[in-house]
Amino acid sequence: MATRKLGIIMNGVTGRMGLNQHLVRSILAIRDQGGVTLPNGDRVMPDPILVGRNAEKIGALAQQYGIARTTTDLAAALQNPDDAVFFDAATTQMRADLVTQAIEAGKHIYCEKPVADRLDKAVALAKLAKQKGVKNGVVQDKLFLPGLRKIAMLRDAGFFGRMLSVRGEFGYWVFEGDWGQPAQRPSWNYKKAEGGGIILDMLCHWRYVLDNLFGAVQAVSCLGATHIPARVDESGKTYTADTDDAAYATFQLAGGVIAHINSSWATRLRRDDLVTFQVDGTHGSAVAGLTRCVTQSRVNTPRPVWNPDVPQTMKFNEQWEDVPDNITYENGFKIQWEDFIRHVCAHTPWKYDLVEGAKGVQLAELGLKSWAERRWLDVPALSI
Ligand SMILES: NC(=O)c1ccc[n+]([C@@H]2O[C@H](COP(=O)([O-])OP(=O)(O)OC[C@H]3O[C@@H](n4cnc5c(N)ncnc54)[C@H](O)[C@@H]3O)[C@@H](O)[C@H]2O)c1
Repeated sequence: MATRKLGIIMNGVTGRMGLNQHLVRSILAIRDQGGVTLPNGDRVMPDPILVGRNAEKIGALAQQYGIARTTTDLAAALQNPDDAVFFDAATTQMRADLVTQAIEAGKHIYCEKPVADRLDKAVALAKLAKQKGVKNGVVQDKLFLPGLRKIAMLRDAGFFGRMLSVRGEFGYWVFEGDWGQPAQRPSWNYKKAEGGGIILDMLCHWRYVLDNLFGAVQAVSCLGATHIPARVDESGKTYTADTDDAAYATFQLAGGVIAHINSSWATRLRRDDLVTFQVDGTHGSAVAGLTRCVTQSRVNTPRPVWNPDVPQTMKFNEQWEDVPDNITYENGFKIQWEDFIRHVCAHTPWKYDLVEGAKGVQLAELGLKSWAERRWLDVPALSI
């Protein structure tokens, strides 16, 4: 069995996602396990080159993680024919330009979401990739969460009967930074001019979650809000938070399923996880968090009584059963990287391409429009 190298140009690996999920939990973990096995038994070993603006910073990262190659010159890196893949997890706003350059240079593309900050740019990217015949992929990590994989299994097993509705709650309190606790998310998330806003950030995710698990998204109604209008940035400076930090969105899905998802950086948790989805069906319901998933079937459904004169005696949270961890759930970012590497090197099937990424941007853009115009909007098919 042969082992071959796959050169990957990695941009944005000093950031939260680039470093933790993509470099450490995915590429380095794949290297540590001896690479990715292809269907014919050959192995592919990722050979990253780290790209960044600050030579010292990426040099230190490379040293810490035993990576041989770094550069501050992306254009030069794109000229090296040994590096077949370009990966981007840097800023949303620069992504479309960088990915365009990489496609023009003949690279296969893998990148974070959103693929662009506007739908026209996202569609142009997908078209260009198709025209140039490069393989391409977009991170759709939520589908690989153990909790949502359990929901997919329940659906495939027919557990829900006819699916009726989905309720998602995403979010947690992001500290303002002005009273002794620093914010735990980068300040660009709260500035429109820097590609921030929870609608652009999260509706991209909800598009592929809804499309793949519950039914194709057909229409959206979204109300955004800027609950916290001023925050303190990484350097201790107060700035105006001028974009949405919460979104209350309802979706109509193919098959008649109704979905409602609240996304907020201004909420405090009284639920099992940072994101939870409750799915109600005629034959059963399930609630999934990041890892856990509990179910209640039609025959186990209790019959609570509405009586404001006495305190509630039923412990509703205890009336659900855990879906067991019968299989090992690996890090979702890593699973998706492995699939993409197989797709690039062995042409295995792959679904999560730039067209799927563009659909996410489409839903975000329609969500923003729905909010601005205070109305429901249909989600048309994209022509690419
Ligand atoms: N899949 C997910 O769940 C998920 C979660 C969070 C963020 N993201 C996406 O990942 C991307 C990065 O988000 P993050 O939270 O890691 O942000 P971050 O601020 O931590 O990292 C941003 C990265 O971009 C680089 N960068 C910033 N400005 C630059 C410039 N002018 N030129 C070159 N490089 C520049 C930074 O050095 C850093 O490496 C965003 O597109 C975001 O939407 C995805």
